[in-house]
Amino acid sequence: MTAFFNVDDCREQARRRMPRMIFDALDGATGNETASRRNRAAFEDVCLQGRVLVNVESRTLKNVFLGHEWQVPFGIAPMGMCDLFWPGSDQAMAHAARELGFPLGVSTMSSTTLEQLFDLAGGNAWFQLYAGESDELTHKLVERAARAGYETLILTADVPALAPRQRDQRNGFKVPFRIGPRQFIDFACHPRWAFSTLKNGKPQPRNVGTSTISDTAPKKQAQFRRESGRGRFDWHFLSELRAIWPHKLVLKGVMCAPDAQKAADAGVDAIYVSNHGGRQLDSAPAAIEMLPLVREALGSEFPIVFDSGVRSGEDIARTLASGADFALLGRPFLYAMGAGGSVGLAQLLKLLTNDLSTVMAQLGCINPVQLNDAVRVSVRR
Ligand SMILES: Cc1cc2nc3c(=O)[nH]c(=O)nc-3n(C[C@H](O)[C@H](O)[C@H](O)COP(=O)(O)O)c2cc1C
Repeated sequence: MTAFFNVDDCREQARRRMPRMIFDALDGATGNETASRRNRAAFEDVCLQGRVLVNVESRTLKNVFLGHEWQVPFGIAPMGMCDLFWPGSDQAMAHAARELGFPLGVSTMSSTTLEQLFDLAGGNAWFQLYAGESDELTHKLVERAARAGYETLILTADVPALAPRQRDQRNGFKVPFRIGPRQFIDFACHPRWAFSTLKNGKPQPRNVGTSTISDTAPKKQAQFRRESGRGRFDWHFLSELRAIWPHKLVLKGVMCAPDAQKAADAGVDAIYVSNHGGRQLDSAPAAIEMLPLVREALGSEFPIVFDSGVRSGEDIARTLASGADFALLGRPFLYAMGAGGSVGLAQLLKLLTNDLSTVMAQLGCINPVQLNDAVRVSVRR
């Protein structure tokens, strides 16, 4: 693997090693991908005020969030079917979460069971719930998460309908995975991915049985239909979930102050500001621009976690300075797996931690909490 020094280089290496259809499914977003680009552009517009002559010799990245001390103030956002993008990703990321001491978001659609991932991550894992079309399936997932030992449940609320992604449509990408002649050629041109995928077996969602709308086979009850609308889930569902889940509950996909306030009133333990990395609503504003508004509405103490567009240690600092207590990154971790498997992952983690520590020194901060008080100056181009 060639060394990389930023996420763009890492992404480029992943692009070369992954079949095009697979890379596009990871890298892509909905619509014209405007929201995804907007996320990045807005980060670059967040300027932070450096401070001089502060003794920053002893710095720590440790951070307490949701009742747990983490070694770094960032983690991995929940992503479904990670082993499809690079075989062994779920397990490698869980190992890293255990080794370095950060949280792994485990998706409802994970390609390793939620129980295995919790154990592999040494308990450093949060379970992300997609409410399925059946209440029975949803309750089963919640019960399983509790039995496995999860203490944080993230309800993803920004997928009332699965948004189409044009790159996937053009490439004929579907879950469950189908291999036609076009895909076969694409895979054959990327032998490293193809051989390891053959060796590891066809990646599947392991927590739920799936079906697609186009399936003609009779469906078993309580199957999870990825394409089915989750449009019927509303605030009432959140209250019900609050009543049955005794641990930390986080609402993911909040993009405005009124929703954040309503969720806080409904008893959630944290708000997760995110626009799904631009994968759901192309006209969505940049998530980082909404973050200060949500912080202002909730006051200084309410726990906030953030994702969408974080690409460096400096971006993690920008996120904390914009009002979040914790940052998560999605695509960069799978780019790193694509670029170099576990070695790529270790390289990305080193890059993020070194970068964050250096930026903290520049800002006169000796711990992540002090970043909340770093002065943020937004400039408009
Ligand atoms: C391949 C992929 C799969 C994803 N799967 C899920 C999922 O199963 N559940 C969920 O809540 N979010 C999912 N997301 C969204 C991420 O949790 C996160 O919001 C987004 O990736 C953050 O943006 P970033 O990729 O720019 O860091 C997925 C994102 C990607 C790229």
